[in-house]
Amino acid sequence: MSSTSSAPTRFLTGITTTGTPHLGNYVGSVRPSVRFSQRADVQSFYFLADYHALIKVGEPARIQRSTLEIAATWLACGLDPERVTFYRQSDIPEIPELTWLLTCVTGKGVLNRAHAYKAQVDKNAARGEDPDADVTAGLFMYPVLMGADILMFNAHKVPVGRDQVQHIEMARDMAQRFNHLYGEHFTLPEAEIDEAVATLPGLDGRKMSKSYDNTIPLFTPRAPLQKLIAGIVTDSRAPGEPKDTEGSALFQIYQAFADTDETTALRKAYAEGIAWGDAKQMLFERIDREVAPMRAHYEALINDPARIEKILLAGADKARAQSVPFIGRLRQAVGLRPLSAPASAASGKAAKVALPTFKQYREREDGRFYFKLLAADGALLLQSRGFVAPQEAGAAIAALQQQGGAAVKALAAQLEPLHNEDVQAVEDALAALAHAASVAG
Ligand code: TRP
Repeated sequence: MSSTSSAPTRFLTGITTTGTPHLGNYVGSVRPSVRFSQRADVQSFYFLADYHALIKVGEPARIQRSTLEIAATWLACGLDPERVTFYRQSDIPEIPELTWLLTCVTGKGVLNRAHAYKAQVDKNAARGEDPDADVTAGLFMYPVLMGADILMFNAHKVPVGRDQVQHIEMARDMAQRFNHLYGEHFTLPEAEIDEAVATLPGLDGRKMSKSYDNTIPLFTPRAPLQKLIAGIVTDSRAPGEPKDTEGSALFQIYQAFADTDETTALRKAYAEGIAWGDAKQMLFERIDREVAPMRAHYEALINDPARIEKILLAGADKARAQSVPFIGRLRQAVGLRPLSAPASAASGKAAKVALPTFKQYREREDGRFYFKLLAADGALLLQSRGFVAPQEAGAAIAALQQQGGAAVKALAAQLEPLHNEDVQAVEDALAALAHAASVAG
């Protein structure tokens, strides 16, 4: 679904400011993103998601420090703030404003299904606690704030990990619903998952992640870096004994930095029984070769926070050149208008006689096929459970189209539970569809 014009594709990514960037972040996100941002056919937006950080972290000093470290990291790794739009979320007051506009077109039931919220509720249930224990309204609203981030700049593509795909789908639904009610304002965003970027193992062999406490911070100075690398798990094979590359965290990390010749050489050394100490030394030198020049840049930046502040504020100016007029247009669209302005009707789109619609889609998360029934105003009426085959979803839709309300009861097991007060709305919608179909012949 590419546009017909040759305008660049807009990419947008947020980085939550809760931690210190590590080698896994570098290999999986920073390095590929910086390279990608240099392409002529893309326009990129990178921002520090510090409002999102508040959902997870209640330590002000850590939020501030992480914001500084992440900004310095991206700049040291070559992100060019002249080329891209690089800003801090909390410098854009239009984002929380848009969050509210979107909040008012987002079903609470949709947010109930968000993975992060649901995971906490399930955890509470398993422990026999109140379902909402430790759930802030911020966690619940997380997807709406993220929707505002994305829709504010009309991003086409959002590069994310698999765990974030559902949020992009939700942003898409918010855009659709808003456009439906108020006219075409938002681009429908799509998730972009790069299957090629592998996740890096950490010191203990599990995925490198702050939550496992097994990370190697990207800009660790030389001596402590060497020490950390010495602590990577290996097996107990002695020098001279052949080693397995399969399942070797050390080998995998090396591979993420080395070219094919270097990787082949280490594979050979493994087969020939290289001592673990020597392999670690090779890994250390290889990482340091790539990181050292950036480390010098990083240290200069981190010691000059005022310079980073200035870069971020310039980025915010650039971003606000778009967000300020855009929010003005959106305020106008929803009816937050000067009283002296003529009271125009709803947009042309909403004024047309709209029909309920079935939407079929595949959830990338579980690979299953789903459908939903949307009312004429875009409200969610009916949500299916996941089907293994698309034909099953199609058959259920056909039954609903042909049998109306009767099919809703028959299919109850394949549908998310329907509240009593919604049954009538669903029956009306199916009747309206059947009527339209009969008129169309
Ligand atoms: N939720 C994202 C994460 O945890 C961070 C984020 C916030 C984001 N807003 C965004 C990512 C908008 C992409 C687009 O990784």
